[in-house]
Amino acid sequence: MSNPNKELWEKGDFTRVAETMRASGDAFVESLGVTEGLDVLDVGSGDGTTAVPAAQRGANVLGVDISAPLVAAGNARADALGLSNLRFVEGDASRLDDLADDSFDLVVSIFGAMFAPRPADVAREVVRVTRPGGRIVMGNWIPNDPTLVAQILRISAAYSPPPPEGFISPMTWGIDDTVIERFAAAGVPPDSVSLERDTYTFDFAGTPSQLLALFREYYGPTMNAYAAAAAAGREADLQAELDALFNEQNASTEPGATTIPATFLRVTVAV
Ligand SMILES: C[S@@+](CC[C@H](N)C(=O)[O-])C[C@H]1O[C@@H](n2cnc3c(N)ncnc32)[C@H](O)[C@@H]1O
Repeated sequence: MSNPNKELWEKGDFTRVAETMRASGDAFVESLGVTEGLDVLDVGSGDGTTAVPAAQRGANVLGVDISAPLVAAGNARADALGLSNLRFVEGDASRLDDLADDSFDLVVSIFGAMFAPRPADVAREVVRVTRPGGRIVMGNWIPNDPTLVAQILRISAAYSPPPPEGFISPMTWGIDDTVIERFAAAGVPPDSVSLERDTYTFDFAGTPSQLLALFREYYGPTMNAYAAAAAAGREADLQAELDALFNEQNASTEPGATTIPATFLRVTVAV
């Protein structure tokens, strides 16, 4: 049976985009105070932008991701770095069937679980696998935020056919009240959920237009938007809008270098 969620993330090569996010991944993990021996689950781990730095700090880390190529890329990175305390397996954030209740001290999901299609199930599953006294920390893009990723997704949506009936936008994970409601339905009281604005930075050794070319070639959601725009004869319009966006958002003053800070919602749940 086809799984559009899996197909989207097996498209292209997200590792090429992830390479521009490594410094923020490391800083994010540092901010979590990950220590030796902590049991960490990274949901929607990709090739390990946060899982690798968590393992490098001595945690026992499992990455779960829906994309087979990203799981393979993560395991190749763990091997190359000699991290025997890190492994990646295929799985779906909304059905963590192979994981027992109360297994992890820390469950992290950076722009990962937000893309799973059944958000209520995701909230229930991440709570279920977290030990009492543990934490869940999610990073979610925010709808209508003026920074890069929310704008890429907004512009892309305008060139794409309407989503199927009943589709819940991943961006709803960036709405404060919705996040609180989802965790409340999973048994977590609202005062155990804290919400903050935080920043992730895309660092790229090339121009903003070259960074856009990377998204166009390798980032599934952008690839789909270009395909839909091409089918409607509007590819040049999409290219112009995104090119203007990438160039406006660039904060680097160095010629031929790109630094784009993007705002996200950091959700911390005490279980
Ligand atoms: C934007 S990438 C982020 C990857 C990684 N967390 C990082 O920071 O580099 C989104 C990730 O979520 C994964 N993903 C999407 N839907 C998923 C699902 N239902 N279950 C598990 N992973 C999923 C994708 O395969 C992809 O690796």
